[in-house]
Amino acid sequence: MSGHKYDPRHAVFLDSEERKERQRPEDIFSILKAEKEDVVLDLGAGIGFLTFPLAEIVRDGKVYAVDVQEEMVKKLEQRRSEKSFDNVDVLLSSECKIPLPDREVDKVYMINVLHEIDDHSTLEETHRVMKKGAELLVVDWDKEKVTEHGPPTHVRLSLEEAVKSLEQKDFRVEDTGKYEDHFWLLAEKVD
Ligand SMILES: C[S@@+](CC[C@H](N)C(=O)[O-])C[C@H]1O[C@@H](n2cnc3c(N)ncnc32)[C@H](O)[C@@H]1O
Repeated sequence: MSGHKYDPRHAVFLDSEERKERQRPEDIFSILKAEKEDVVLDLGAGIGFLTFPLAEIVRDGKVYAVDVQEEMVKKLEQRRSEKSFDNVDVLLSSECKIPLPDREVDKVYMINVLHEIDDHSTLEETHRVMKKGAELLVVDWDKEKVTEHGPPTHVRLSLEEAVKSLEQKDFRVEDTGKYEDHFWLLAEKVD
């Protein structure tokens, strides 16, 4: 958790065809699949790599696409209007405030974001906005892999460090795994 933020000038790479070959939304959904009526938080949504595939799934629910960078939020809003999704709400957050009520969401996706958050308050906020028993999927770059793409090794986390930071914030880690250059962990909110 480094506070190092993805540079919005490179935002186009977040939704490139090349990325979709390395990290497919389908692979993410094979770990945690949203249901048609779910209310979902895409935390650190970037330009919506996962937001729009999610919106296709939660037809009778909602996706909150939340990011701390105004440039990302603007791009998300623009893409939402181009794609005419009325079940996507785009919100600007801060490191210590997610602008949602308590216990609002059924599922949270945090894709390549955990290593960027500044301190533990984002995790506390994530916990606050989740319903009891709601699930959180974290996918992030594995510190133990040397890769051509992705953030520098010194800002990444290992799977063990990620598990520890979640457990400190009252999440119960249910399952973990690794694929390609990433690790993932699935956690449940414990009240
Ligand atoms: C590497 S990008 C990944 C974006 C998107 N999840 C994806 O997979 O394409 C990380 C994003 O997380 C956002 N971010 C970093 N810290 C955050 C925080 N504490 N709360 C919300 N968003 C955050 C950044 O602004 C950036 O847009």
